[in-house]
Amino acid sequence: MTRSEALRYARTRLEEAGFPTRQAEAEARQLLESVTGVRGARFWREAQATLEPAQERLLEEALGRRAAREPLQLILGTAVFCGLELEVRPGVLVPRPETERLVELALERLPESGPARVLDVGTGSGAIALALKQARPQLEVYASEVSEGALDLARANARRLGLAVTFLHAPLTAGLADLNLIVSNPPYLPETYRKGAPAELAWEAESALYAGADGLAVARPLLAEAAGALAPGGWLLLELDPTNVHALAREARRAGFSEVAVLPDLARRARFLRARR
Ligand SMILES: C[S@@+](CC[C@H](N)C(=O)[O-])C[C@H]1O[C@@H](n2cnc3c(N)ncnc32)[C@H](O)[C@@H]1O
Repeated sequence: MTRSEALRYARTRLEEAGFPTRQAEAEARQLLESVTGVRGARFWREAQATLEPAQERLLEEALGRRAAREPLQLILGTAVFCGLELEVRPGVLVPRPETERLVELALERLPESGPARVLDVGTGSGAIALALKQARPQLEVYASEVSEGALDLARANARRLGLAVTFLHAPLTAGLADLNLIVSNPPYLPETYRKGAPAELAWEAESALYAGADGLAVARPLLAEAAGALAPGGWLLLELDPTNVHALAREARRAGFSEVAVLPDLARRARFLRARR
């Protein structure tokens, strides 16, 4: 099978598995690039090259996994987040495009130059902490996480990218103080979401997704700790669910935070809470 034949074959397999044509086309290309190790313009220049038997076997295996709704990034072993190529592994949340907005909102509240102390709570693959450090190398960036597997992955990503972040195996604010900004994409899905959840979520660690009946079992204690961990004037930025973000905003106001705002994602759903100590 040539590369262009393999591409058509992979696209058809994904379409038959129920993916819309555009998605099937894009994913077929990514899978083939990964299997052949040849990307972009070179792939097309050499479109008539023949796949080796081992590559055909790898493609077949990858298509079977994707048809079973395993997330594409886990099959590829990488995900792109804020322009950084991160390694991803089963059991650690694959960073999502909507979380890139959280990074943008954090950068808006941080100095362009000059020092600031920042904490990413529940860092997972390290995505947010590493994106912040990449964008503003002068920041002192900390990242907390309770999952050892996630911390291993985050440290490996930091090493590979050459970014200096202090990773802490500790819950929530890890006893830090005088922080200028706390950012977090905590587990925030209400338990009720489980029933209708997309099949892809079955591959993610439950502890990275669900947080009690209202989805605030991690964010609520984080709000309480943030008041003590932030320097006066410091910012708290959280990614939450449209069903619970307004409730936590009210709790933030009651707890004495100022400039409390609920902000939308690109699909205009209420997703982010911003508050100032
Ligand atoms: C939704 S994932 C976010 C991962 C990553 N920040 C991202 O945006 O891709 C939530 C992460 O928070 C971690 N976590 C859960 N409870 C925590 C806690 N109390 N303190 C610190 N991390 C926690 C989970 O292990 C998981 O890795």
